[in-house]
Formats: sequence, C-alpha cells, structure tokens
Amino acid sequence: MDTENKIVIYYFSGTGNTEIVCGLLADALTKKNMQVSLISMEDVSFDISLDLMAPSDMIGIASPIHGLGIPKIVSEKSKKIAARASKDQKVFLLLSAADIVKINHAAGSEISKIFYKEGTSIFYERIIVMPSNFLISYNDRFSRQLYEASKEKTAHMADELLLGKERLLRPSLLYRALARAVHKCESGYGAPFFGNSIISDEKCTGCMTCVKNCPVQNLKLTEGKIRGGKDCLMCMRCFYICPEKALSSKSFKFPILKKGYDTKNFIDLSSFSEPFLTEKTKGFYRHFLKYINNKEL
Ligand SMILES: Cc1cc2nc3c(=O)[nH]c(=O)nc-3n(C[C@H](O)[C@H](O)[C@H](O)COP(=O)(O)O)c2cc1C
Repeated sequence: MDTENKIVIYYFSGTGNTEIVCGLLADALTKKNMQVSLISMEDVSFDISLDLMAPSDMIGIASPIHGLGIPKIVSEKSKKIAARASKDQKVFLLLSAADIVKINHAAGSEISKIFYKEGTSIFYERIIVMPSNFLISYNDRFSRQLYEASKEKTAHMADELLLGKERLLRPSLLYRALARAVHKCESGYGAPFFGNSIISDEKCTGCMTCVKNCPVQNLKLTEGKIRGGKDCLMCMRCFYICPEKALSSKSFKFPILKKGYDTKNFIDLSSFSEPFLTEKTKGFYRHFLKYINNKEL
C-alpha cells in the first residue's frame, strides 16, 4: 500500500475550533506536497483497518481540551486507532484549548498512554489556543487574533512535523496528578450530571437540529421537550447550534455562553485590521501576549 506523503488526522471538535485548526494544519501540509485527509471521529467506527480506510505514514489525533483532559469520545476512538495503527506510523497530537495555562500540558497524557500501551510513542504534541466556548466569552477581535496566530503556528507545526522534530510537553508529576483528578470529576460526574439536566423551553420548535448533531446521540425529544441524558460530553454544541437558543441546563447555567458561540463571528469579522492585544493591553488578555507574538509557543 502506498503511504508515502500521506497524513491522516482523526479529530473531534465540539464547536468547530479543533476542526478549524486541523484545516489550517492540513493547508500548511498540503503546501509542502503532503496529501492530508481529515477524518471526523464521530463519523467512523474504526472497525476496519486504518490501511483500508486511509493509508498513511503519519497519524494525527486532534481534540479540544475538556477539564484538563480529553473528551471520552476521543479516548474511546483513540484506543481503536492505536490498536489498528502500524508500528511504522508516526503519531502526533494536536489539542485546542482556550488558555495557555501550563497545567493544560497534562491534558494529552491519556492519549499518550493509549498509544504507548499499543507500542507507539507520540513524537509531537502541540496545544493551539483558540477562543473560549465555555465559561467566559472572548472579545471577537481577540478571537480573530488567536485565529491569525493559529495560522502561523500550524504552518510552523507543519514544518516541524515534516522534519520529524520531537516536541513533547512533559508536564510535571504534580500537574499530571491534578489534571487527572480534575478531569475525572469533569468527565465522570460533571458531564453526566450536566447532560441529565439539559432541557428545552417553549422556544423549541422540535426541529431536531440538536438531536441530529449531538456527537453521542444523547438528546431525545420526549413529550414535546428535548431532554439530555448521562452520556453527555459537555461539548456545548447543542446549546450553540440550536436556531432558537431554546436549550438550557436546569442545574449548571454558568458554563453556557449567553451570547452563544459561533466561529463565524471571528472568521468573518470585517473590522479586523488592528490587533486587539498589544504591548499596551492590561488586564485578563495580557497573559496571552507572549503566546500570540511567538509562533514557536
Ligand atoms: C467542558 C469544557 C471544558 C473545557 N476545559 C478547558 C480546559 O481545561 N482548558 C482550556 O484551556 N480550555 C478548556 N475548554 C475550552 C476548549 O478547550 C476550547 O474552547 C476548544 O478550542 C474548543 O474546541 P472545539 O470547538 O473543537 O470543541 C473547555 C471547554 C469545554 C466545553
């Protein structure tokens, strides 16, 4: 099977950021004469061999960071990918997050372990910061600036991947332990509890957009209302995709952004000429300055 110059990126994206970053990386790799396939983990069961599905000599796993870890769908599908990957395939990890906090470096540990168990070591890990879809809403112009930075960083990443450069985040033991504990609470208790509390209000037209788009089929229309269940990934897609903004959570309202989340708001932003974040900026956004200004970070 001819695998030369072929890279496959298996990704999950709740609200579009990770998919955008994968698209940017694919564009950068394509410019370097690589053939890149992007495969959504949601759409594939991975019951056939990876070679039959999409032969490649390099595999990428891409995911948003959720609660200092990765969503369950990514760990489940990664187990199948790792079991079917050949020992000759090089594997990299691309995570999208909303902040530069160092403890995020521990988020990929679970995927590294999954591949390690199957005899493959991940050679490259990178976190690309994108706008927040959770808890706090970022300014649209700042979001656009993050997106512009992602273009530079993915181009830099493409160069490094093709050079075979090793880049590992190596979080400290303390960060790994803390991140594992937080993620266990988020995915084991928080997400199922949150999912069970999802309900639609009188604005719901029964269009089923949320039901059809839930990555884990966790929403149902019963007695005229949409209700969620315990399999929720807390990816937030259903809230933001609803055309009527008719979904809410009975118990946790604070994580859901009031104005919603739509990547179009920063990609199509017409008034982006000057960078939002500059040396003069004070307050919350200032801590992103070094990350924005240095394509290697
Ligand atoms: C439930 C949940 C937990 C999150 N936890 C983190 C986190 O621990 N660290 C972080 O930097 N961003 C966190 N985020 C923000 C997302 O990682 C970020 O916005 C990401 O780019 C979303 O990607 P997506 O649009 O592909 O889903 C979280 C988002 C959600 C919905």
